[in-house]
Formats: sequence, C-alpha cells, structure tokens
Amino acid sequence: MSRASGPGPRWLLFSFGMGLVSGSKCPNNCLCQSQEVICTGRQLTEYPSDIPLNTRRLYLDNNRITYLPAMNLGLLSDLVYLDCQNNLIHEVMDYTFIGVFKLVYLDLSFNNLTLISPYSFSVLSNLVQLNISNNPHLSFLHKHTFANTSSLRYLDLRNTGLQILDHGAFHHLTTLRTLYLSGNPWNCNCSFLDFSIYLIMSHLDQPDYQNATCVEPTEMVGWPITGVGNPLRYMCITHLDRQDYMFVLLIGFCIFAAGTVAAWLTGVCAVLYQNARRKSDEDDAEDEVGQRLNVNRRIFQNRNESAHDGFPQLI
Ligand SMILES: *[C@@H]1O[C@H](CO)[C@@H](O)[C@H](O)[C@H]1NC(C)=O
Ligand SMILES: *[C@@H]1O[C@H](CO)[C@@H](O)[C@H](O)[C@H]1NC(C)=O
Ligand SMILES: *[C@@H]1O[C@H](CO)[C@@H](O)[C@H](O)[C@H]1NC(C)=O
Ligand SMILES: *[C@@H]1O[C@H](CO)[C@@H](O)[C@H](O)[C@H]1NC(C)=O
Ligand SMILES: *[C@@H]1O[C@H](CO)[C@@H](O)[C@H](O)[C@H]1NC(C)=O
Repeated sequence: MSRASGPGPRWLLFSFGMGLVSGSKCPNNCLCQSQEVICTGRQLTEYPSDIPLNTRRLYLDNNRITYLPAMNLGLLSDLVYLDCQNNLIHEVMDYTFIGVFKLVYLDLSFNNLTLISPYSFSVLSNLVQLNISNNPHLSFLHKHTFANTSSLRYLDLRNTGLQILDHGAFHHLTTLRTLYLSGNPWNCNCSFLDFSIYLIMSHLDQPDYQNATCVEPTEMVGWPITGVGNPLRYMCITHLDRQDYMFVLLIGFCIFAAGTVAAWLTGVCAVLYQNARRKSDEDDAEDEVGQRLNVNRRIFQNRNESAHDGFPQLI
C-alpha cells in the first residue's frame, strides 16, 4: 500500500478511523465480529492491513508471518488478546508492543524466535499470560526482559533453546503463579545456582517440573532443576570440583613420594655412615696389631717382585 508512504501516519490513522466508523474495514479473508478479528490459518505472510482500530482480540495464529510491525500494531490501543501462535516470527524488537499497553494475553509459541530484545515487553504492565514456548532457537533472555511485566501470572518457556536463566529476570514477577520450564537444554553449572535457589524459594506452580531436567554438566544429567539447589550449593560454594580433587590427590601423592624418597635416602646415608665407621674402626685395630706383619709382608712381596722384573720398587 502506498498510503503509509504518502501523507504520513496521521492520515493513516484518520483513514483507519473512517473505515471503522463506516464499519466496512476487515482484512481480506479474515473474520471480523464484535471487536474480534480472526485470521487463523489464512496463509498470511505478513501482518494484515485494515484491522479495525477498536479490535480487542486478534487471532493471527497458524500463518507464515515473519514480522510484527510496531507501527501498525500500535494503532490497536484496545487490544487485550493477541494470538501469534505457529508463525515464523524471527525476532521481537524493542517496543514492538509499545502501542498495545492493555495487552493481557500474548501467545508467541511455535515461532522461530532467536531474539527477544530487553525492552520488547517494557510497556506490558497488564500482561497476565505470556507464552514463548516452542521456539527452539531462542537461547537467551535478557535479565530485564520481564522488568515491567509486573502482572504476569502464567509464563510458558517450554521447549526453547534456553540453557540458563538469570534469576534477576524474575525479580519483578511478584504475581507469577505458574511457570513451565520443561524441554529446555538446562546447563546446571554454578551459574545456575541462583536460579535454582529462586525455584525452591518462590513456591511457584510448576506443572511440568518432572520433565524440566539438567542436560549438562555430565554429573547433573537427568536431575530435575527444582532439585539441584542443594547439590549445586555444595558443589559451587565449597568450590571443589573434579579438577580440585585431582589436584588434592596429586599433592598427596607428591608428599607421599617425597617422604618415601627422603626415608630411603636417610636409610642409605645411615648404612653408608655405619659402614664407613666400621671400616675405620677395623683399620685402627689393624694399625696396631698387624703393622709389623704388614711391613714384613710388603718387603717380602717387593723382594719377590724385584726378583721378577729386575727393578726394586719403592713403597
Ligand atoms: C529458524 O531460524 C533458524 C536460525 O536462525 C534458521 O536456521 C531456520 O532456517 C529458521 N527456520 C525457518 C523455518 O525459518
Ligand atoms: C520500565 O518502565 C519504565 C517506566 O515506564 C521505563 O522507564 C523503563 O525503561 C522500563 N524498563 C524496561 C526494562 O522495560
Ligand atoms: C503455550 O502454547 C502451547 C502451544 O501453543 C500450548 O500447548 C500451551 O498450553 C500454552 N501455554 C499456556 C500457559 O497457555
Ligand atoms: C554455565 O553455562 C552457561 C550456558 O552454557 C554459560 O554461559 C556459563 O558461562 C556457564 N558458567 C560457568 C560458571 O561455567
Ligand atoms: C513428561 O514427558 C513425557 C514424555 O515426553 C510425557 O509423556 C509427560 O506427559 C510429561 N509430563 C509432564 C508433567 O509434562
């Protein structure tokens, strides 16, 4: 449509308003009745135009929409219910929902979200139910993502790519009652400790807690994430992991080896010293008793030898 590029948003608003007044506007192929617009399964590849401005419930589910335009969505200031389930939405950018501040229900499940920027939900202080489940490429949620969604009661984070959550992300969710966390590749390392303690302390209803298990690290595989608080506290606060145990073992072995070598050296020295002393004692005794004998023997020997090769030899 060329209208948006023409005289600007004010005219657009006016035109939509006139359409609403005349009661004739409804997106192609969609069903519009009593503030409800149903575009379920219409092969839509983009957000439909001509949505009545007083719409309160909008069903865009089961289409192939890739992008939610903040400007068009923002015209629907009465919107309370938005179902975008099963589309191809790739990213939710900052302030996408800035105009729909009355939103109570938002379903973004079964999309292809890879990014939800931190201010995406910043004006949704009336939001009660948020469904981000089944977005397998979504691997990160910023800790400010839920900073202003202070009315949230149901949060579905099933079957995403999330490995870890900052417990600070839940700090403002004081009314949260039900949280789904199963089917995620949770990495229960030491960074997970604070979130696991939050799960224990918060007493949330977690209907699928049995299926919310750790996938990493190897020593935690299969543990339900609601139960890793204590093992993690033990493992991370005492700061002893397998490498540390190996190190302690190595040090122990070194001390043992050094001790053995030292004992052996001491033994060898003692034996050598003993031998040396015994020898010197024997020599002393020989000096006294056998000196003359010895001299005689040598002289005799020398005589023999000089007889043998003709030269007398000096002692
Ligand atoms: C979903 O997103 C991933 C990662 O960006 C991409 O590789 C994949 O092609 C997308 N799938 C569809 C159906 O668009
Ligand atoms: C929360 O709302 C306040 C006031 O409306 C705003 O200044 C702030 O930027 C918002 N924070 C986030 C993280 O959305
Ligand atoms: C979120 O969406 C999924 C799939 O569309 C659905 O099965 C689930 O019940 C929804 N969760 C909530 C809390 O409504
Ligand atoms: C824990 O795992 C997450 C996600 O894989 C990673 O970003 C983080 O650095 C890890 N933390 C530690 C202490 O290893
Ligand atoms: C857990 O997963 C199993 C197998 O995928 C499924 O049959 C069961 O209903 C799930 N339980 C809950 C509480 O989600």
